Amino acid sequence: MDSPQNFLVDKKGKTAYLTVNRPDKLNALNFATIKELGQILQVLKADTQVRGIIVTGAGAKAFVAGADISEFKNLSRSQAKDLTQTGHHQVMDVIYNFPKPVIAAVNGFALGGGLELAMACHLRVASANAKMGLPEVSLGLIPGYGGTQRLPQLVGRAKALEMIMSGEMIDAQEALQWGLVNYVVPQESLITKSEELLEKMYTRSPHAIATAINVVNEGLQAANGGGYNAEIEAFTSAFDTEDFKEGVSAFLEKRKPNF
Ligand code: COA
Repeated sequence: MDSPQNFLVDKKGKTAYLTVNRPDKLNALNFATIKELGQILQVLKADTQVRGIIVTGAGAKAFVAGADISEFKNLSRSQAKDLTQTGHHQVMDVIYNFPKPVIAAVNGFALGGGLELAMACHLRVASANAKMGLPEVSLGLIPGYGGTQRLPQLVGRAKALEMIMSGEMIDAQEALQWGLVNYVVPQESLITKSEELLEKMYTRSPHAIATAINVVNEGLQAANGGGYNAEIEAFTSAFDTEDFKEGVSAFLEKRKPNF
Protein backbone atom coordinates (compact mmCIF):
# COMPACT_ATOMS: atom_id res chain seq x y z
CA MET A 1 0.00 0.00 0.00
CA ASP A 2 1.02 3.67 -0.42
CA SER A 3 2.54 5.38 2.60
CA PRO A 4 -0.28 6.20 5.04
CA GLN A 5 -1.63 9.76 5.23
CA ASN A 6 -3.19 9.59 8.69
CA PHE A 7 -0.96 7.13 10.54
CA LEU A 8 2.61 6.54 11.52
CA VAL A 9 3.47 2.86 11.20
CA ASP A 10 6.77 1.70 12.71
CA LYS A 11 8.10 -1.76 13.25
CA LYS A 12 10.62 -2.63 15.93
CA GLY A 13 11.42 -6.26 16.60
CA LYS A 14 8.17 -8.19 16.62
CA THR A 15 5.98 -5.18 17.37
CA ALA A 16 4.17 -2.81 15.01
CA TYR A 17 3.48 0.67 16.41
CA LEU A 18 0.40 2.19 14.87
CA THR A 19 -0.09 5.89 15.69
CA VAL A 20 -3.17 7.83 14.61
CA ASN A 21 -1.59 11.01 13.33
CA ARG A 22 -4.03 13.94 13.16
CA PRO A 23 -2.95 15.76 16.34
CA ASP A 24 -4.42 19.15 15.34
CA LYS A 25 -7.86 17.44 15.31
CA LEU A 26 -7.05 15.40 18.43
CA ASN A 27 -6.67 12.39 16.11
CA ALA A 28 -10.40 12.37 15.25
CA LEU A 29 -11.29 9.54 12.89
CA ASN A 30 -12.56 10.87 9.59
CA PHE A 31 -13.76 8.43 6.93
CA ALA A 32 -10.42 8.43 5.11
CA THR A 33 -8.67 7.49 8.38
CA ILE A 34 -11.07 4.63 9.00
CA LYS A 35 -10.57 3.25 5.49
CA GLU A 36 -6.81 3.61 5.73
CA LEU A 37 -6.77 1.85 9.08
CA GLY A 38 -8.66 -1.06 7.52
CA GLN A 39 -5.97 -1.39 4.86
CA ILE A 40 -3.08 -1.14 7.34
CA LEU A 41 -4.62 -3.87 9.50
CA GLN A 42 -4.72 -6.27 6.55
CA VAL A 43 -1.03 -5.60 5.84
CA LEU A 44 -0.06 -6.15 9.50
CA LYS A 45 -2.18 -9.28 9.71
CA ALA A 46 -0.31 -10.81 6.76
CA ASP A 47 3.13 -9.69 8.00
CA THR A 48 4.66 -12.76 9.62
CA GLN A 49 7.37 -10.66 11.33
CA VAL A 50 4.70 -8.78 13.30
CA ARG A 51 3.59 -10.66 16.42
CA GLY A 52 1.72 -7.83 18.17
CA ILE A 53 0.50 -4.25 17.73
CA ILE A 54 0.47 -1.16 19.93
CA VAL A 55 -2.14 1.42 18.88
CA THR A 56 -1.77 4.98 20.16
CA GLY A 57 -2.44 8.61 19.24
CA ALA A 58 0.00 11.34 18.20
CA GLY A 59 0.72 14.10 20.71
CA ALA A 60 0.40 14.21 24.48
CA LYS A 61 -3.26 15.22 24.65
CA ALA A 62 -5.39 12.65 22.86
CA PHE A 63 -5.56 9.01 21.93
CA VAL A 64 -8.52 9.68 19.62
CA ALA A 65 -11.25 12.28 20.38
CA GLY A 66 -13.88 10.37 18.40
CA ALA A 67 -15.25 10.26 14.92
CA ASP A 68 -14.65 13.48 13.00
CA ILE A 69 -17.81 15.41 13.79
CA SER A 70 -17.17 17.98 11.05
CA GLU A 71 -17.89 15.23 8.49
CA PHE A 72 -21.25 14.31 10.05
CA LYS A 73 -23.18 17.43 9.16
CA ASN A 74 -23.81 16.76 5.49
CA LEU A 75 -23.94 12.97 5.53
CA SER A 76 -26.94 11.33 3.88
CA ARG A 77 -28.55 8.36 5.56
CA SER A 78 -26.84 5.94 3.18
CA GLN A 79 -23.45 7.59 3.74
CA ALA A 80 -24.00 7.34 7.51
CA LYS A 81 -24.72 3.63 7.12
CA ASP A 82 -21.62 3.17 5.00
CA LEU A 83 -19.56 4.96 7.68
CA THR A 84 -20.77 2.81 10.57
CA GLN A 85 -20.61 -0.44 8.59
CA THR A 86 -17.10 0.26 7.34
CA GLY A 87 -15.95 1.14 10.85
CA HIS A 88 -17.50 -2.02 12.26
CA HIS A 89 -16.48 -4.51 9.60
CA GLN A 90 -13.15 -3.21 8.30
CA VAL A 91 -11.70 -1.84 11.53
CA MET A 92 -13.28 -2.61 14.91
CA ASP A 93 -14.25 -6.23 14.21
CA VAL A 94 -10.88 -6.84 12.55
CA ILE A 95 -8.98 -5.58 15.62
CA TYR A 96 -11.30 -7.41 18.02
CA ASN A 97 -10.69 -10.68 16.15
CA PHE A 98 -7.07 -9.96 15.25
CA PRO A 99 -5.04 -13.17 15.55
CA LYS A 100 -2.13 -11.40 17.31
CA PRO A 101 -2.36 -9.31 20.50
CA VAL A 102 -3.39 -5.67 20.00
CA ILE A 103 -2.86 -3.24 22.89
CA ALA A 104 -4.33 0.26 23.03
CA ALA A 105 -1.90 2.69 24.67
CA VAL A 106 -4.44 5.33 25.68
CA ASN A 107 -2.40 8.54 25.98
CA GLY A 108 -5.14 11.11 26.61
CA PHE A 109 -8.75 11.63 25.49
CA ALA A 110 -10.41 8.45 24.21
CA LEU A 111 -13.91 9.60 23.33
CA GLY A 112 -16.64 8.19 21.13
CA GLY A 113 -15.02 6.31 18.24
CA GLY A 114 -11.70 6.68 20.07
CA LEU A 115 -12.91 4.75 23.08
CA GLU A 116 -14.56 2.27 20.71
CA LEU A 117 -11.19 1.78 19.00
CA ALA A 118 -9.52 1.22 22.38
CA MET A 119 -12.28 -1.20 23.42
CA ALA A 120 -11.89 -3.22 20.21
CA CYS A 121 -8.24 -3.83 21.19
CA HIS A 122 -7.52 -6.85 23.38
CA LEU A 123 -6.02 -4.85 26.27
CA ARG A 124 -5.88 -1.20 27.27
CA VAL A 125 -3.06 0.58 29.09
CA ALA A 126 -3.93 4.17 30.02
CA SER A 127 -1.76 7.10 30.99
CA ALA A 128 -2.72 8.86 34.20
CA ASN A 129 -4.07 11.89 32.26
CA ALA A 130 -6.41 9.78 30.08
CA LYS A 131 -10.12 10.57 29.96
CA MET A 132 -12.66 8.20 28.48
CA GLY A 133 -16.29 8.49 27.49
CA LEU A 134 -18.99 7.90 24.90
CA PRO A 135 -20.42 11.43 24.39
CA GLU A 136 -22.58 10.60 21.32
CA VAL A 137 -25.91 11.40 23.00
CA SER A 138 -24.70 15.01 23.28
CA LEU A 139 -24.73 14.98 19.47
CA GLY A 140 -28.16 13.33 19.19
CA LEU A 141 -26.43 10.08 18.22
CA ILE A 142 -25.54 6.75 19.73
CA PRO A 143 -22.13 5.05 19.57
CA GLY A 144 -21.65 3.64 16.07
CA TYR A 145 -18.42 1.63 16.18
CA GLY A 146 -19.44 -1.11 18.62
CA GLY A 147 -19.52 0.93 21.84
CA THR A 148 -23.06 -0.07 22.83
CA GLN A 149 -21.93 -3.71 22.84
CA ARG A 150 -18.30 -3.59 23.98
CA LEU A 151 -18.69 -1.13 26.87
CA PRO A 152 -21.18 -3.40 28.72
CA GLN A 153 -18.83 -6.35 28.12
CA LEU A 154 -16.08 -4.51 29.97
CA VAL A 155 -17.81 -2.53 32.73
CA GLY A 156 -21.24 -4.19 33.06
CA ARG A 157 -24.64 -2.93 31.97
CA ALA A 158 -25.25 -0.38 34.72
CA LYS A 159 -21.99 1.53 34.40
CA ALA A 160 -22.14 1.28 30.60
CA LEU A 161 -25.63 2.77 30.54
CA GLU A 162 -24.56 5.48 32.97
CA MET A 163 -21.65 6.44 30.71
CA ILE A 164 -23.70 6.23 27.50
CA MET A 165 -26.76 8.08 28.84
CA SER A 166 -24.83 10.83 30.63
CA GLY A 167 -22.18 11.23 27.92
CA GLU A 168 -19.75 12.09 30.76
CA MET A 169 -16.07 11.20 30.75
CA ILE A 170 -14.36 9.17 33.44
CA ASP A 171 -10.71 9.50 34.40
CA ALA A 172 -8.03 6.81 34.21
CA GLN A 173 -8.37 5.71 37.86
CA GLU A 174 -12.10 5.24 37.54
CA ALA A 175 -11.61 3.38 34.27
CA LEU A 176 -9.21 1.06 36.10
CA GLN A 177 -11.67 0.53 38.93
CA TRP A 178 -14.37 -0.47 36.44
CA GLY A 179 -12.15 -2.76 34.35
CA LEU A 180 -12.28 -0.53 31.31
CA VAL A 181 -8.47 -0.43 31.29
CA ASN A 182 -5.97 -3.07 32.42
CA TYR A 183 -3.31 -0.70 33.80
CA VAL A 184 -2.77 3.00 34.53
CA VAL A 185 0.80 4.29 34.30
CA PRO A 186 2.53 7.69 34.05
CA GLN A 187 2.41 8.96 30.48
CA GLU A 188 6.17 8.47 29.96
CA SER A 189 5.82 4.75 30.81
CA LEU A 190 2.86 4.05 28.56
CA ILE A 191 4.69 2.45 25.65
CA THR A 192 7.20 0.60 27.89
CA LYS A 193 4.37 -0.96 29.87
CA SER A 194 2.58 -1.99 26.66
CA GLU A 195 5.84 -3.44 25.32
CA GLU A 196 6.38 -5.42 28.53
CA LEU A 197 2.95 -6.99 28.17
CA LEU A 198 3.61 -7.91 24.56
CA GLU A 199 7.11 -9.29 25.26
CA LYS A 200 5.61 -11.71 27.76
CA MET A 201 3.05 -12.83 25.18
CA TYR A 202 5.77 -13.32 22.56
CA THR A 203 7.28 -16.05 24.76
CA ARG A 204 3.98 -17.97 24.50
CA SER A 205 2.61 -19.96 21.57
CA PRO A 206 1.31 -17.61 18.85
CA HIS A 207 -1.00 -20.33 17.61
CA ALA A 208 -2.47 -20.83 21.09
CA ILE A 209 -2.88 -17.06 21.55
CA ALA A 210 -4.73 -16.71 18.22
CA THR A 211 -6.97 -19.62 19.16
CA ALA A 212 -7.69 -18.16 22.62
CA ILE A 213 -8.69 -14.78 21.13
CA ASN A 214 -10.99 -16.55 18.73
CA VAL A 215 -12.64 -18.70 21.36
CA VAL A 216 -13.13 -15.87 23.88
CA ASN A 217 -14.78 -13.81 21.14
CA GLU A 218 -16.90 -16.74 19.98
CA GLY A 219 -18.49 -16.98 23.41
CA LEU A 220 -19.11 -13.24 23.69
CA GLN A 221 -20.56 -13.19 20.17
CA ALA A 222 -23.00 -15.96 21.05
CA ALA A 223 -24.14 -14.00 24.12
CA ASN A 224 -24.41 -10.80 22.10
CA GLY A 225 -27.21 -11.80 19.70
CA GLY A 226 -27.99 -9.08 17.17
CA GLY A 227 -26.58 -6.19 19.18
CA TYR A 228 -23.96 -5.05 16.68
CA ASN A 229 -26.44 -4.98 13.79
CA ALA A 230 -29.01 -3.19 15.95
CA GLU A 231 -26.37 -0.55 16.66
CA ILE A 232 -25.60 -0.07 12.94
CA GLU A 233 -29.32 0.41 12.16
CA ALA A 234 -29.97 2.74 15.11
CA PHE A 235 -26.88 4.87 14.46
CA THR A 236 -28.00 5.28 10.84
CA SER A 237 -31.58 6.19 11.80
CA ALA A 238 -30.34 8.85 14.23
CA PHE A 239 -29.11 10.88 11.26
CA ASP A 240 -32.76 11.59 10.33
CA THR A 241 -33.60 13.24 13.66
CA GLU A 242 -33.86 16.88 14.68
CA ASP A 243 -31.78 16.08 17.77
CA PHE A 244 -28.89 15.03 15.53
CA LYS A 245 -29.08 18.28 13.55
CA GLU A 246 -29.13 20.32 16.75
CA GLY A 247 -26.36 18.28 18.45
CA VAL A 248 -23.89 18.46 15.57
CA SER A 249 -24.65 22.13 14.82
CA ALA A 250 -24.07 22.95 18.49
CA PHE A 251 -20.67 21.19 18.51
CA LEU A 252 -19.54 22.94 15.34
CA GLU A 253 -20.78 26.31 16.62
CA LYS A 254 -19.00 25.65 19.96
CA ARG A 255 -22.20 25.99 22.03
CA LYS A 256 -24.34 23.71 24.21
CA PRO A 257 -27.14 21.83 22.37
CA ASN A 258 -30.74 22.66 23.19
CA PHE A 259 -32.63 19.34 23.16
N1 COA B 1 -14.26 15.77 15.49
C1 COA B 1 -13.78 16.83 14.82
N2 COA B 1 -12.94 17.72 15.35
C2 COA B 1 -12.57 17.54 16.63
C3 COA B 1 -13.04 16.46 17.39
C4 COA B 1 -13.90 15.54 16.78
N3 COA B 1 -14.38 14.47 17.42
N4 COA B 1 -12.51 16.54 18.64
C5 COA B 1 -11.73 17.64 18.64
N5 COA B 1 -11.77 18.24 17.42
C6 COA B 1 -11.07 19.46 17.01
C7 COA B 1 -11.71 20.70 17.61
O1 COA B 1 -12.83 21.10 16.84
C8 COA B 1 -10.56 21.66 17.53
O2 COA B 1 -10.42 22.08 16.18
P1 COA B 1 -10.16 23.66 15.84
O3 COA B 1 -8.84 23.96 16.50
O4 COA B 1 -10.09 23.66 14.35
O5 COA B 1 -11.32 24.40 16.43
C9 COA B 1 -9.35 20.79 17.83
O6 COA B 1 -9.75 19.45 17.54
C10 COA B 1 -8.90 20.85 19.28
O7 COA B 1 -10.02 20.54 20.11
P2 COA B 1 -10.60 21.54 21.25
O8 COA B 1 -12.06 21.25 21.39
O9 COA B 1 -10.21 22.95 20.94
O10 COA B 1 -9.80 21.04 22.52
P3 COA B 1 -10.28 21.15 24.05
O11 COA B 1 -9.08 20.79 24.87
O12 COA B 1 -10.97 22.45 24.30
O13 COA B 1 -11.40 20.00 24.23
C11 COA B 1 -12.33 17.78 23.91
C12 COA B 1 -11.05 18.63 24.05
C13 COA B 1 -11.89 16.37 23.55
C14 COA B 1 -13.11 17.77 25.23
C15 COA B 1 -13.21 18.39 22.78
O14 COA B 1 -12.40 18.55 21.63
C16 COA B 1 -14.40 17.53 22.40
O15 COA B 1 -15.39 17.52 23.12
N6 COA B 1 -14.31 16.84 21.26
C17 COA B 1 -15.42 16.06 20.74
C18 COA B 1 -15.57 14.76 21.49
C19 COA B 1 -16.74 13.99 20.97
O16 COA B 1 -17.89 14.35 21.09
N7 COA B 1 -16.44 12.85 20.35
C20 COA B 1 -17.42 11.91 19.92
C21 COA B 1 -17.65 12.03 18.48
S1 COA B 1 -18.82 10.81 17.99
